[in-house]
Amino acid sequence: MLELRAVDAGYGDTTVLRGVDLVVPDGAVVALLGANGAGKTTLLRTASGLLNPTSGSVLVDGADASRWPPHRLAKAGVGHVPEGRGVFRSLTLRQNLRLQAVSVTVEEAIERAVGAFPVLGERLDQVAGTMSGGQQQMLALARGYVENPRYLLLDEVSMGLAPIIVDEIFAFLAVLAQEGTGLLLVEQYVTRALELADLVYVLNRGEVAFAGEPSELDSAELFEQYLGVTV
Ligand SMILES: Nc1ncnc2c1ncn2[C@@H]1O[C@H](COP(=O)(O)OP(=O)(O)OP(=O)(O)O)[C@@H](O)[C@H]1O
Ligand SMILES: [Mg+2]
Repeated sequence: MLELRAVDAGYGDTTVLRGVDLVVPDGAVVALLGANGAGKTTLLRTASGLLNPTSGSVLVDGADASRWPPHRLAKAGVGHVPEGRGVFRSLTLRQNLRLQAVSVTVEEAIERAVGAFPVLGERLDQVAGTMSGGQQQMLALARGYVENPRYLLLDEVSMGLAPIIVDEIFAFLAVLAQEGTGLLLVEQYVTRALELADLVYVLNRGEVAFAGEPSELDSAELFEQYLGVTV
């Protein structure tokens, strides 16, 4: 289980997360919702070790990982597909995968990536920055996937993509969930995220305003009060 316990975190003097308790049980899909600026990205960055909590702890199977660097969390099975993709645009697809392959060989990484998104197989020597936005996002997802993480933190991976690509990405997320990868999913497609989710957390100004099963969530309240849109 990946767990945040009473976590405060932020940037310099700015505290963003306040007293956040959150769990990603093994094999569960957890949706993390909240308005712009609520702290979703900050939470994922804290869970993957890019940001250290100022108080409270991050735990992996009960072990205190609060001060672990990102590569150690990655080794413990915590993968992160960051906001804005995080692919190396000037490198080829193959080079991007090579950089990601730490505990697997490059060949295995390529096989897993192409297995997930066959279109990537036709573009292994293409410079990533010249691929379409959808293909770059597939590469970003594949980079998160090649190490076979126990938990994958996904920050708005469908952002700005054509509907047909969004469908393909959600189909891939469903496969990941079926394979037993725990997902912590930040998504603008709230309804689709809730369809996949076993658990949902709503962040409001850095605090957990709701934690429970999707069926317990009052969707009118969610949209009006926490996401700032009326339905
Ligand atoms: N690098 C940074 N330095 C200082 N403040 C930051 C930094 N990154 C984010 N913040 C601030 O932290 C708060 C939470 O930001 P965060 O990016 O975690 O929110 P979010 O829920 O992911 O928002 P969005 O839906 O827009 O992606 C915001 O007030 C933001 O301005
Ligand atoms: Mg964000």
